[in-house]
Parts: sequence; structure tokens; C-alpha cells
Amino acid sequence: MKVNDVTTYEVEGRIAVITVNSPPVNALSNAVRQGIAGGVEKAIADDAVGALVLICEGRTFFAGADITEFGKPQVEPSLRELQKIVENAPKPVIAAIHGTALGGGLELALVAHYRIAVPSAKCGLPEVKLGLLPGAGGTQRLPRIVGIPKALEMVTSGDPVSAKSALEMGLLDELAGEGQLRADAIAFANRVLDEGRSLVKVRDKTDKLDEARARPEIFAEFRKANAKKFRGFLAPEYNIRCVEATLVDQPFEDALAYERSLFDVLMQDSQSAAQRHVFFAERQAAKIDGIPADTPTLPIAKVGVIGAGTMGGGIAMNFLNVGIPVTIVETSQAALDRGLGIIRRNYETTAKKGKLSAGDLKKRMSLLTGSLALEDLADADLIIEAVFEQIDVKKDVFARLDAVAKPGAILATNTSYLDIDAIAAATGRPESVIGLHFFSPANVMKLLEVVRTKDSAPANIVTAMKLAKTIGKIGVLVGNGFGFVGNRILAARNTQADRLVLEGASPEAVDAALYDFGFPMGHFQMRDLVGLDVGWNRETTRSANVREILNEMGRHGQKSGGGYYDYDENRNRVPSPVALQVIEDFAKKEGIARREVPADEILDRILFAMVNEGARILDEGIASRPSDIDIVWITGYGWPRYRGGPMFWGDLQGVPVVLEKLKALQAAHGDGFAPSPLIERLAAEGKGFKDL
Ligand code: 3HC
Ligand code: NAI
Repeated sequence: MKVNDVTTYEVEGRIAVITVNSPPVNALSNAVRQGIAGGVEKAIADDAVGALVLICEGRTFFAGADITEFGKPQVEPSLRELQKIVENAPKPVIAAIHGTALGGGLELALVAHYRIAVPSAKCGLPEVKLGLLPGAGGTQRLPRIVGIPKALEMVTSGDPVSAKSALEMGLLDELAGEGQLRADAIAFANRVLDEGRSLVKVRDKTDKLDEARARPEIFAEFRKANAKKFRGFLAPEYNIRCVEATLVDQPFEDALAYERSLFDVLMQDSQSAAQRHVFFAERQAAKIDGIPADTPTLPIAKVGVIGAGTMGGGIAMNFLNVGIPVTIVETSQAALDRGLGIIRRNYETTAKKGKLSAGDLKKRMSLLTGSLALEDLADADLIIEAVFEQIDVKKDVFARLDAVAKPGAILATNTSYLDIDAIAAATGRPESVIGLHFFSPANVMKLLEVVRTKDSAPANIVTAMKLAKTIGKIGVLVGNGFGFVGNRILAARNTQADRLVLEGASPEAVDAALYDFGFPMGHFQMRDLVGLDVGWNRETTRSANVREILNEMGRHGQKSGGGYYDYDENRNRVPSPVALQVIEDFAKKEGIARREVPADEILDRILFAMVNEGARILDEGIASRPSDIDIVWITGYGWPRYRGGPMFWGDLQGVPVVLEKLKALQAAHGDGFAPSPLIERLAAEGKGFKDL
């Protein structure tokens, strides 16, 4: 029988089964909560019913509160009211879990009297990832079942645990057979009745808390151990405070009210708004505008990689990791041996850490073939070029590839900045050419810029985006233009950072401003880490900027003991008098007056220049949406997640403010800050980037 559009109610013997089916993920929307409440009330009123099973159809148990309803008016019952109805039901309620019981979904399961799940299910409280905390009793009930240390881990990481672990922790009472959840949950409910088991309320359990009472220092220890990971984020600390509150001697309702008050603070904060924006932006990025959804993808069963250097090796590993064979081509046996050796050593290091079995290591290496002949790529479905960043070298490779690759093969370049249309023109099949811009280290970094050229075939674009997912990357589709999205905005940051140090800011001051904003490392620190000589051409160098001069002096960054900073043998960083002298001398030569540069000027110049560049990129159609730019900078360049990406940050300032700032910066520092036409337009129309 239907309770409402998303809920059905059936009675099997003594057991009422309330089934929710609200695609895609059974989020606890208004309709879902109403449906469950209606079902539970029916079951309570029905004398023939002894116990209730709450179960979902579709791909998962409730995936949490409905994030799309946040900030909108809620209809009764609220999640908390629904929880009261369930927890206080006079008949046992059994939550039957498959897929992922997340956030409010798990919190609802925690007010059921018993929980059963299939082995493939997962349980977690991921609110922290949205800048929130479990606001429906999760921080109070979870520690009462799994203990404080595990609860702290779960609420601050947001990562789910497997059904097996959940069973061991006591979070689940039983495992069902895979594919027979409904029947097993009903059987379990019948047993609960037969054995006259009590109505267990998690809120009444205290034994696990008593264990922690003896060691109150665990909270301080946990904060200290995770300080680096939590830096800048509000939500982890608030989650910890709530778990800490489980040890306070107070009525359970007061603890819930405390949790609620902290939840409300987080919900109002810009960090949660930013993190929720990122959640949807990541999913939006996977959607391709302008290409029919039913465009078929091509099978990628064999991959070729050209160049076994820094990038080629890492790129190859992505495919080996998911069981796709790779042939890697080099120009000399020495370069090939070096490249293959690095791949093997990387895997061995992972194996030593216990994260890869000997069997898997062997399997992955067995999928890898080295070659000195491009002809060996004749049967590859996808070929990724990662040779030197020189247009002539790339054109030559693509012209030769054209003669070798099978018809229909996708020919991709990993270029950082070069014009992919020009590279494609070296072939007779420009529709087959695409950019796949990986980030270093390519086997680790999550971002993949998929660059469509003016001729890229839709099937190739769709295939590349799908492939990104297959190899665990976040693919962002971008257009062909200098530096695409990420590196072009990086270039805008470079310009400001370089200029700021010439005007008198120290590299430490620039780095500190960015670090304090939330980047994992400063600008010059990053350059030193990557190596100042990446992309530096020793043949054409002519002391044209500080970076070139440092390179000419052999100061290539960390690896050579010095760049913008000096490093000791343990790579500890100290300010460099030598680099400072180079900067001062160069400023003098260029006639740039040096002065004290305030920290807020450093940040303003860098950040507003980046937003302005992002706006130009949008105007030129190089990025399809502002949120794509945000994803590129968060996943590829360490922009702090809790600040939502440069375009979200621009919206947070307000586009009119961005415009005023840019005009003021333009007046003070020149036309490099001329506001992009898009910003002028949006300000005039009273709109933000979010309205695009
Ligand atoms: N509310 C609304 N929509 C949601 C949602 C939610 N909680 N979770 C997922 N969706 C939507 C996604 O936006 C996506 O929509 P789209 O198809 O229009 O893009 C669709 O569901 C499918 O999501 P995914 O593409 O992510 O599907 P996957 O199968 O890869 O993953 C998932 C499924 C593991 C459930 C993943 O979506 C997820 O992690 N969701 C978020 C879970 C979460 O954070 N829950 C806590 C919410 S906050 C809360 O509960 C507060 C409470 O404590 C009071
Ligand atoms: P690298 O210098 O480490 O490796 C290039 C390799 O290509 C060398 O091993 C070289 O022997 C080989 N090679 C050169 N010509 C070849 C040819 N004709 N056939 C086969 N092999 C050839 O360079 P890196 O850093 O791996 O860069 C490769 C490409 O990736 C460049 O286009 C670069 O801009 C891009 N890139 C680099 C990133 C980085 O951080 N290093 C990040 C993203 C892209």
C-alpha cells in the first residue's frame, strides 16, 4: 500500500515493512520524512504488527539529509521529530541497510532499535566534508556505540566504514546475505519478537563512554595528531567538541541541543557554503554541455604513452592501476630503463608500506611494456604524448603518430601551455586529437583537464571524461587556450608574485600570505619544490627575470639545495640572502622602487588578479562554468576547499566589490588589473558568477 509517492507499507506476518524509493540516493527530503512517519504511525496503530523494518529501494539506504533543501522551508516532521517517532515507537524498529547509510541516514538508523546490513553496505557520517557536523544526534549516539576514539575518527574524516567493520564495532547487529536484505531483515525482526528482545535505545548506552572517562586527554591528543590535516577548517573542531560533550554530565536532550547549536553555527558559516558548493561543483564538472547524453564512448583496452619522464611514468601508472595495459615509448634505452625503473620503485615503495600486495605489484608491472619504436603503438586505443614542452618536438611526434596509430585511436597531448590545434594540425585527423592535462605527480593528483580543440570529436571528448572517472580522477572539460584553465590562472598569480618581490615583499611574506589564506604551501615554496628549471630552456636563457638568473646560478630549487630559499640536506627551508640579493639587484636594474608591502596588499593583488583571469577565461569560453574553475584550482593547485575556489570566493566578496578592487588596483599598479568585461557586465546586471 502506498503511504505517499515515495513510500510503501506492507505487512508480512507480524512485520510491517516500510519501503522508501526516492531516487537517486533516498536523501531524507520532506516527502521521504513524511512517508516514513506515516508508515511508522500505521504500524504502531496496527495491532497485528509486532515489529517494523525500514528499508530502501534503489541504489542505497538514505544518503543523508537532502542537501538541496538546506536553507529552504522544511515541512513537518523535521528529521529530529521523525527520530523521536522512531526511537519512541513501542514496537522494535529494524533498519535494513544497503548501499551507503550516510549522515542523517545513519543518524536515522541509530534511533532504530536494531540494524542489519548487507556485506557491501557502508556506514558513515560525512557531514564534515560539507563543513558541517551530524546535526541529528550522530555525535552523541555514535560514540555510545563505537567508543570515543573511533567516533572521533569517523566524524572528523567523514569516511565511511565497511559493514564488516561496522559489525565489529557494534554499529550493526547483524549482516544479511547479499541480495536478500528484505527477507533477512524480516527474519531478524521475527527473531527479535520471538526472543522478546528489548527496545534498545542507543542514547541509554554508557559503557563505551566510561572507558573514555578514564582518559580525558584523548581529545587533546587527537587534536594535536591531526592539526595539519584540520588546519583552517572549522568543522573538524566543532565535531570534536560535540563528541567531547558526550562526557559532560547533562541530560541527553541538552547534549542534543548543544550539538544543534554548533550545527547551526556551521550551517551559517561561509565554509560550509563553500564546501557544499564544491560537492555539487564536482558533480557538475562531469556533465558535458552541448554533446548529446547518448553519445557512445569508445572502448579503451590498450594505452600508449610517449615519453617516460616525470609525467609519462605517472600517467602510465594510472592505467596499470586499473588493469589497462600500457606501452611506453622513449627515444633511448637509457631513458626507457630509467622511466620503467621509477615506476617499479614507486610500486615497491607502496608495497613496502603495505598498501599493495606482491601479487598486485607483479600484475601491474606485467601490464607494462617498454619500447623504442612508435610503431609498437599501432594497436593502442589511446595514445598520450608526454615529451618535452616544445611545439616542434610535439608536432614531429604527432605527424609520426598519424602514420602509425590505428584509425579512430584517440591521440592526446599532456602539454601544459601549447596550442593543441597547432599540434592537431600536424596530423591528417585533427578530430582525433585532444588534450589530457595531468598534474604532477600524475599518479597522485586528482585533477585531469580534458582539453577539447576546435575539431575534437564528441565521442573522444565523452570517452576522455569517462576515462577520467575510470582512473579515479576528476575530469574537467576545458577549451584550448594558453595554459587552459589552471595554468593560465597560475600565470596570473606568477605575474603578481614576481612583481611583489621586486617591489619589496620577501618570498617568505608572499608565501606566508598564501599559506595563511589556506594554501598548503606558498607560491615560491611550490616553485622550489617543483623545480625552477621545469620549462626553463637553457639554450635561450638571458637573465630576463629572477627565475632565469637563479637557474643560471644553478639554483633550481629544493633538489639543488637552493632556489628562492636555501635548503639543508634534510630539505629544511630558510630565507636565502643570495636569492634576496638577486631580487634586489634585478629590481634596481629594472628601476623598480622597493618599499614595505603590507600583507593585505599581497593577498589582494594575487587573489583579485586570479578572479579577474578566471572571468576572462569564462568570457572566452575556455571554461564552461565558474564552478569548473573552482574545481580545477581546488583539486589541482591546493586552493582551500573551505574557500570554495576562486570564483566562489569572488562571489563571496560580491562582484561589485571585485570590480571596485580591480579598478583601484588598476589605478595603483597598471592595466594588468583592468577588469574583465564579464565582471563589468555582471556588476551592471546585479549578478554574480553563480548566476552564469
Ligand atoms: N542530498 C541531495 N542530493 C544528493 C545527496 C544529498 N544528501 N547526495 C547525493 N545527491 C545527489 C547528487 O548531487 C547527484 O545528483 P545529480 O545526479 O543531479 O548530479 C546524485 O545524488 C548522485 O550522487 P553521486 O553522483 O554522488 O552518486 P554516487 O553513487 O557516486 O555517490 C553518495 C552516492 C555516496 C550517496 C554520494 O552522493 C554522497 O556522498 N552524497 C553525500 C552524502 C552526505 O554528505 N550526506 C550527509 C548530508 S548532511 C546531513 O545529513 C545533515 C544531518 O546530519 C542533519
Ligand atoms: P621530462 O623531461 O621529465 O620527460 C620528457 C621525456 O620525453 C624524456 O624522458 C624524453 O626522453 C622523452 N622524449 C622526448 N622526445 C621524445 C620523443 N620524440 N619520443 C619519445 N620520448 C621522447 O618532462 P615532463 O616533466 O614529464 O613533461 C612532459 C610533458 O608534460 C610536457 O609537455 C610538460 O609541459 C607536461 N607537463 C609537465 C608537468 C610537470 O609538472 N612536470 C605537469 C603537467 C604537464
